[in-house]
Amino acid sequence: MLINKKLIWKVLKNHFNELKDIHIKTLFNKGHRFKFFSREAVGITLDFSKQKISLKTLNLLLELAKEAEVSKAINKLMSGNYINVTENRHVLHTALRSNKKAYIELNGKNIIPQIHASLNKMSNIVNLLNYGKWKGVNGKIITDVVNIGVGGSDLGPKMISMALRGFMSADICNINVHFASTIDGTQLFDILPNLNPDTTLFIYSSKSFTTIDTQINADTALIWLKNNLNKPEDIIKKHHFIGVSTNTDKMTKWGLNKENQLEFLDEVGGRYSLWGAIGLIIAIRIGMKNFLRLLSGASNMDEHFRSASLENNLPVILALIGIWNINFLNIPSHVVLPYDGHLKFLPSYLQQLEMESNGKSITNDSQLVDYFTCPIIWGEVGPNGQHAFYQLLHQGTQSVSCDFIVSINPYHEIKPEYLRDRLNMQHLLVLANCFAQSRILMLGNNDNSHKHYFGNKPSSTILLNTISPEIIGSLIALYEHKVFVQGIIWGINSFDQWGVELGKKIANETYSIMTSGHGADILDDSSSNLIKYVWNNIKN
Ligand code: F6P
Repeated sequence: MLINKKLIWKVLKNHFNELKDIHIKTLFNKGHRFKFFSREAVGITLDFSKQKISLKTLNLLLELAKEAEVSKAINKLMSGNYINVTENRHVLHTALRSNKKAYIELNGKNIIPQIHASLNKMSNIVNLLNYGKWKGVNGKIITDVVNIGVGGSDLGPKMISMALRGFMSADICNINVHFASTIDGTQLFDILPNLNPDTTLFIYSSKSFTTIDTQINADTALIWLKNNLNKPEDIIKKHHFIGVSTNTDKMTKWGLNKENQLEFLDEVGGRYSLWGAIGLIIAIRIGMKNFLRLLSGASNMDEHFRSASLENNLPVILALIGIWNINFLNIPSHVVLPYDGHLKFLPSYLQQLEMESNGKSITNDSQLVDYFTCPIIWGEVGPNGQHAFYQLLHQGTQSVSCDFIVSINPYHEIKPEYLRDRLNMQHLLVLANCFAQSRILMLGNNDNSHKHYFGNKPSSTILLNTISPEIIGSLIALYEHKVFVQGIIWGINSFDQWGVELGKKIANETYSIMTSGHGADILDDSSSNLIKYVWNNIKN
């Protein structure tokens, strides 16, 4: 049954009518909103008091979660159950951060030892690189690593590598990391001239090992190495490539020997994969110790998600607030605003996590939904956004809900030391800006005409105790679980992504037409003329 056919949905709709004309600022008249509408767990505080909700709203939303059997679903997820039915798979990303003593079964076998064996292999590779023991074909120490991957094989690793860039240990080599994802090669072509082929290693990162974007970039990187190193291809691959995939056959076929392959489970979705072998570049960047701290932070959030009551459960609350905003307040757009320059890739990472997971219209029992599912997710580093698009947030005609994300404390380490006071001062400034923006969005002002701010715009503030591998791990797991709970309530499978497959097929067909020089006429008038226009105007 579609969730909106349940009685609780109707009750929530009626309740919305009670609240719809009330300005959020008047909800503050009752006092103690922060006390009633904030929750804390594992170093993260969620303040949702600036949302357009009352205690009654919260209770009804919790009823909704109960109706949708969210607790049962959480147990299934956390025990690695068969829940990705449309892809005929179990869901096992949380197993990647489980400790050695955990027991999670797949096909009658505990998969935890396999996961830890893969982590050990990864750790060996990371240590060889971090201690200057991995050499290129000419005996030179590797100084630069390029991750070639796209989607989940790029966004998560890039986001975390940037978020935790201050966590490189002093006792290991400072390896430069680079990312190339785009099929046009522009990123790779930009990077290559600044790299020394003797000291560069590429990670060929692709869950399927069939993604054309990644294949094409890896082949280009190989051509570059072959041209510069003058050694046989297999020797070059041994010294300058590591493959990360679930598809060992394809890795072997491409010429990677077993030592250069890191394997992971099919049951880990691409956008949920940074916690294992796909996170290799993260571990190279921040060291294996810090990578394990990242996993333990995610595991802390998993434990909270598994054990906290629904009303105290951070991911559940975040999910319910999102549902309230999109399904009842009809706010179709949600902006993520990290107040930290190092979290600049968080919005694009969350775009894939949320939109690829929940941007769906067909339920698990094949019904077409008649309610909104995932909103449009977008975002930018908050302080920069203030000088760009906040105008629309404050005075535009579109409704947008916001997540502000900021840490209480800045990085512990800062060099040179004499800049510490400046860092602390700048950090207070960023906190002040963050709090000011959410306050204005909620309150508005009484000025007239062009200076009028309406206020009444809902936001949540996610306060991190600090930026550390553990807290970042917890933060990302918080969002993963939020997405899961929303998928459960909407009745959709958050773990497939059929909506990207047709594009791949048609792109292949279009490429054949474009390279063969015929076949354009059978396409629609726009596509066929675009192709012909290119044929007539392309320079080479
Ligand atoms: O096309 C979408 C997608 O399949 C994502 O789900 C995935 O993260 C990305 O492509 C990359 O896939 P792969 O890691 O298999 O190359």
